[in-house]
Amino acid sequence: MKVVVTGGCGFIGTNFIRYFIKKHPGYKILNIDKLTYAGNLENLKDFKKRKNYHFVKADICNALFMKKLFKKFKPDAVINFAAETHVDRSITAPSQFMKTNFLGVGTLLNLCLDFGIKGFLQVSTDEVYGSIEKGSFCENSLLTPSSPYAASKAGADGLVMAYHTTYKLPILITRTTNNYGPYQFPEKLIPLVILNALKNKKIPVYGNGMNVRDWIYVEDNCAAIDQVLHKGKIGEIYNIAGKCEKTNIQVIKTLLQILNVDESLITYVKDRPGHDQRYSLSMSKIKKQLGWQPKTSFARGIKKTIDWYQNNKTWLHNTQTGAYRKFYKQYYSKLGLKEK
Ligand code: NAD
Ligand code: DAU
Repeated sequence: MKVVVTGGCGFIGTNFIRYFIKKHPGYKILNIDKLTYAGNLENLKDFKKRKNYHFVKADICNALFMKKLFKKFKPDAVINFAAETHVDRSITAPSQFMKTNFLGVGTLLNLCLDFGIKGFLQVSTDEVYGSIEKGSFCENSLLTPSSPYAASKAGADGLVMAYHTTYKLPILITRTTNNYGPYQFPEKLIPLVILNALKNKKIPVYGNGMNVRDWIYVEDNCAAIDQVLHKGKIGEIYNIAGKCEKTNIQVIKTLLQILNVDESLITYVKDRPGHDQRYSLSMSKIKKQLGWQPKTSFARGIKKTIDWYQNNKTWLHNTQTGAYRKFYKQYYSKLGLKEK
């Protein structure tokens, strides 16, 4: 099988490619990524020489160039991780979220139609449902997104479903809760707390710290996406939950305790506008239909995550300074390719 993975140099994309190549060594993968501030080519540098893995720098919104890539690679399936993903950035600068997360998905859908793709999997989020006080959202719950990020993802989900209803495009959608693990850019809560704790810097807690997120270890999400791609029912949406709900302050205190860092670093700051109080997903559909459930406990996942960041301080440093871009330039010039 030939699979295009978009956004493969980001957090989940990187973990997914690592998981997927190991699980399916006979598959060919083309990773297409724009390498925004969140995309890091260094993440997959050990795959450079593999014959079944290729990388091309491109923007999913660039229809002409994407068409050339599809024509050359002739993919059977497309998995779309490419997105602008940080809620805070979507509040201060929403336009790029609309472009990549909605129009970019439209570009991919058109290409999938033109090239007769057998499966398009859109990686979506629990944030499309909005906040829930009690109980959990199921796949047919109403979408009430709160942030421009969540709204752009909800819009994309609508577009993906419309291409299935109207054109019979074989699509699948996954909606996942908060992922954590290696390679996550340190603007998101867990790597930010680790980074600041290691540097003895203040840890900003939005509002009263009582907002609830459901945490899933990234490899469990990768396994679920792989199962949905291979066994999911075309045209369907699958929630992927961690079944590990925690308040932000609980998460922060757990991290500080493991890192043996004093809680005095905790600093309560102004709340995020439109801050969702609680996310919660029912995962009974994926469990019943595909037999999937998360395997990694929070205690084990968080230990693995902290170990990874402590053993990869250069990676952390490079994300701060943009030094990985130098690596990208060297890598590309060695291949004799020009930046698109
Ligand atoms: P990330 O921000 O770490 O990575 C996004 C990647 O997409 C980067 O490599 C970036 O360079 C690339 N990209 C951005 N715009 C692009 C464009 N126009 N063309 C090509 N590539 C582009 O994000 P992540 O946390 O890995 O999330 C991946 C996907 O999973 C996203 O679609 C996100 O909405 C979804 N998701 C994330 C979480 C989470 O907790 N991180 C949870 C649920 C769903
Ligand atoms: O739920 C899935 C979503 O999870 C994904 O779709 C998004 O792409 C991803 O960014 C994430 O969104 P959140 O807003 O939940 O994640 P973030 O790490 O930004 O924040 C987690 C919680 O911690 C949230 O309630 C806000 C709070 N927070 C965050 C930061 C960065 C703080 O209190 N302080 C902080 O400094």
